Amino acid sequence: MIKVSIAGATGYTGIELLRLLVKHPEVEIVTLTAESHIGKNIAEVAPSLRGHFDQTLVKLSPEVARGCDVLFLALPHTTSMQNVPELLKAGCRVIDLSADYRLKSAQVYGDWYKTPHLNPEIIKEAVYGLPELHREAIRPARLVANPGCYPTGAILALAPLMTESWVDAASIVIDSKSGVSGAGRKLSQATQFCEANESVAAYGLGEHRHTPEIEQELSGLAGKGITVSFSPHLMPMTRGLLTTAYVNLTKRVSRDELHDRYAKFYEQEPFVRVHTLGQYANTSHVSGSNLCDIGVQVDVRNQRAIVTSAIDNLMKGASSQAIQNMNLMLGIAETTGLDAPPQFP
Ligand SMILES: NC(=O)c1ccc[n+]([C@@H]2O[C@H](COP(=O)([O-])OP(=O)(O)OC[C@H]3O[C@@H](n4cnc5c(N)ncnc54)[C@H](OP(=O)(O)O)[C@@H]3O)[C@@H](O)[C@H]2O)c1
Repeated sequence: MIKVSIAGATGYTGIELLRLLVKHPEVEIVTLTAESHIGKNIAEVAPSLRGHFDQTLVKLSPEVARGCDVLFLALPHTTSMQNVPELLKAGCRVIDLSADYRLKSAQVYGDWYKTPHLNPEIIKEAVYGLPELHREAIRPARLVANPGCYPTGAILALAPLMTESWVDAASIVIDSKSGVSGAGRKLSQATQFCEANESVAAYGLGEHRHTPEIEQELSGLAGKGITVSFSPHLMPMTRGLLTTAYVNLTKRVSRDELHDRYAKFYEQEPFVRVHTLGQYANTSHVSGSNLCDIGVQVDVRNQRAIVTSAIDNLMKGASSQAIQNMNLMLGIAETTGLDAPPQFP
């Protein structure tokens, strides 16, 4: 059995990792860490796991890394990079769910996260963990930077278009709507019930920290620098992330042609489902699963492609994608432990 530990086991993504890993046939869960809950039992902090785990939460240290083969970091950004050098030195492989190693440029990280990167030399070896784009690089990686939730939905929605000559790549607009769990378990005013319920709010327009991550990956696909307009919204739902992306077309492209492009691009992907024409992405059809659903349309009057994608932010947007990456790193079937259908309704 592969020995797996989770740092940040008491947060939303940590708890989701535990829910999935308890059913994973190839792993044994060794150590769980926390910060404000050190010394408590995990079942006390995450009562949904009662009866499945009976473990005391410990402090994150290199000792934790020495005792496992794979360590998931479900920690706030900046906390990960304070720990990763020592954890890697201790000899385990790391899958970091935070943003600390996603951006290839320390300068860009500093600009968007408003703090200098602590170990730029380690950024170089981190692999961006979106299997649909970087599967082969993920397999041997020692450090995988698990993508953000918004970037996962946006990049998968746009990737098939980025090499097409009939796309005006300078015209990309991405509108995304996330459930409240996307902000994590820590308390904040915007995520309190009275603030988030019965309300839809735009935030971070033109300055959300996931923007450079989306641009980095789309630019890599296009082979040239791409900038996007990205508008995130907070939705009064617990989980789910819907993206609608708009791109101008430089020539007439039929709905069938656009749909064929997507169907072909994703035909081998176990976790991307391209809808038939006329069907669009819906968060409740992917909830609790590692799936990304995509629906496409051409607005023929305006010569514009409209692409919708739906993921579960805690799953394909975080924890189940991290397990997909772990499966690749371990050389086992990519779908192991992830093939249950979504929950509905
Ligand atoms: N939520 C999402 O949908 C989502 C999606 C994609 C990526 N992410 C990223 O995944 C990471 C975790 O997100 P989350 O939503 O699970 O956050 P969260 O619910 O706020 O949980 C944070 C976890 O980190 C621990 N922690 C906090 N400060 C720490 C420190 N200084 N040292 C060690 N541990 C510390 C907390 O322990 P205590 O509870 O004991 O304080 C808790 O277990 C974040 O970087 C986030 O951006 C989240």
